[in-house]
Amino acid sequence: MRSSILRRMILSAVVLLVSSSAQTAGYTVSSPSGKITAAVWVREGHPVYAIRFEGEDVIRESRMGLLMAGGTDLSSGLKVVKTSSSSCDNTWIQPWGETREVTDRYNELRLDFAADRAADTVLVIVFRVFDDGVGFRYELPAAGAPEDFTIVDEKTEFALSSDYRSWWIPAYENNRYEYLYTESAASGFRVVHTPLTMETSEGVFLSIHEAALTDWASMTLANTGNGVLKCDLVPWSDGARVKGRTPALSPWRTITIADDAVGLLTSTIILNLNEPSRIRDTSWIRPGKYVGIWWGMHIGKYSWGSGPKHGATTENTKRYIDFASKNGFDGVLVEGWNIGWDGNWYADGSSFRFTIPHPDFNMDEISRYCAEKGVYLIGHHETGADIDNYERQLDAAFDYYEKMGVRAVKTGYVGSRTNEFEWHHGQYMVRHYRKVVEKAAEHHIMVIVHEPIKDTGIRRTWPNMISREGARGQEYNAWSGDGGNPPDHTTILPFTRMLGGPMDFTPGIFDLFFSEAGRPNNRVNTTLAKQLALYVVIYSPMQMAADLPENYEGHPAFAFIRDVPTDWEKSVPLHASIGDYVTIARKDRGGEDWFIGSITDENGRTLEAPLSFLDGNREYEATIYADAPGADWKERPYLIEITKKRVDSSSVLELRLAPGGGQAVRISPVLNSSPE
Ligand code: NOJ
Ligand code: CA
Repeated sequence: MRSSILRRMILSAVVLLVSSSAQTAGYTVSSPSGKITAAVWVREGHPVYAIRFEGEDVIRESRMGLLMAGGTDLSSGLKVVKTSSSSCDNTWIQPWGETREVTDRYNELRLDFAADRAADTVLVIVFRVFDDGVGFRYELPAAGAPEDFTIVDEKTEFALSSDYRSWWIPAYENNRYEYLYTESAASGFRVVHTPLTMETSEGVFLSIHEAALTDWASMTLANTGNGVLKCDLVPWSDGARVKGRTPALSPWRTITIADDAVGLLTSTIILNLNEPSRIRDTSWIRPGKYVGIWWGMHIGKYSWGSGPKHGATTENTKRYIDFASKNGFDGVLVEGWNIGWDGNWYADGSSFRFTIPHPDFNMDEISRYCAEKGVYLIGHHETGADIDNYERQLDAAFDYYEKMGVRAVKTGYVGSRTNEFEWHHGQYMVRHYRKVVEKAAEHHIMVIVHEPIKDTGIRRTWPNMISREGARGQEYNAWSGDGGNPPDHTTILPFTRMLGGPMDFTPGIFDLFFSEAGRPNNRVNTTLAKQLALYVVIYSPMQMAADLPENYEGHPAFAFIRDVPTDWEKSVPLHASIGDYVTIARKDRGGEDWFIGSITDENGRTLEAPLSFLDGNREYEATIYADAPGADWKERPYLIEITKKRVDSSSVLELRLAPGGGQAVRISPVLNSSPE
């Protein structure tokens, strides 16, 4: 790894004693460019902070601290007894990602709190201030809390300076993170999940989230009035919020701050606030593309369980393997291959067996056939949220898959509570999801999680955590009672859910009406060109070509899905308007090609994309997959025009997007033009 770590004590430069009011004195730490400043002080024994962006308070005075069972209060009666500061300017390389290089540059301030100067430190709060936002977290030294502690409340607040425009999904609902985003003033929500995206009245964009959720409960945000959002940790079924043992660390509470929506897309603070990789040799972790026996079940053509429609038969799986091999896909996902799908698995996962195939699925033969055809099987562990049943079989399940040459496993947790009583987002499940990632790593297996814990950037520490769902994906178009995802859904995801990390959205449906499957009220609410654009816009290192192979055979637009990479050298957002449109250009990590994805909501529009990111000394050919004139998502979604055009770094591409449409572009250097 090429990195230049500069870590030095610069106490006098970073921490200044400031007077924030007549009775209080405090400390400030600013970002390297000076744009963002965090101020920390103590008001009547309570630690508080505020955040300024370009001189304006974007978070005004807000409380911090923790309350323990048994009466230990780490939020009041405190004084700052010691401070220290440092800074970091480091570049690290991602094994895979939206960009290869990540810069980690911040100024840090550590504050020790105690009852008085003579007493032991009971709480440390650490602030890191980057040019793209702020992170802070709690450290619990042994002296502060009982050795085995229970947190009953985290006092962290985010006090807004005015009633910010917000994009949010509700917390504590039965479908986990799978809700359409609502846009409203902050006063219009009660308790929401993070990332929570907001825009101030001055047009500053904020995202409140957390990083490195390792052994804590997820933070939801409760609106307690007057613009104060308070951390509401998702409780265990017994009411505790966090159970732990000192010394302990909380996740980082993060506020991404940018002066436009593009700045949210390029922020790296979530990754930077996670620990470096725990996997030394990551050569077995490879981004890729897959097909699978999956969409057929969602549209009712196949069944997961046994019977005449059973999808995961040996014969059908071989057909998918042949298709994958012929078209250069890396993996084949097979759902419904194992025992447990015949009962009411949605409500009761206790019948799932993770090493016993259905009688009509010959695992040994499929494993052999995959090896012969040069593709790997993506295994599937649907748990039905029965964690006890799954954990009992975890070792055997991963041993079995490793033996069968399975390189990635998709896990699933359908149900409203796990083990009947625990939220998917509480500490119990944070621990479970992490255990599975670690177990998979022991077996050199990548993990794609559906119904996951939210993404807080642990892919940096566990790069085999390759993708996850955690929002309404394509499957909602197949069966959702409300008719599926409206056209603006995917123009909101990049600025909300995706700020946590990659998403297994599963784009690429070509038969948008799937009418022969008998679902008159459901369809995919986009144009065909928009399905292609999603491969670039909705980042995932593992992308699925989600439709049935028969819908791709012979289709000229399929070339884009075959060509598009899933691992990027760099990503350059070109247009960003939350809930309206977004355009992203990305450069292939292994080559010289650039790809552009642009999508719009229900409104058609024309956007101009300057190609100034191209190498100035080269000529390129753009292959453009555009909505044809007259296309729209409702009536004429299949109208697509595939054209080629010579371009260079001075070109400006006109992106004509139909209502509910999109455009996908591949830009390749012309062979006789020479690189810089
Ligand atoms: C829900 C997942 O999101 C979906 O992809 C999967 O097919 C079903 N559960 C069954 O496991
Ligand atoms: Ca799901």
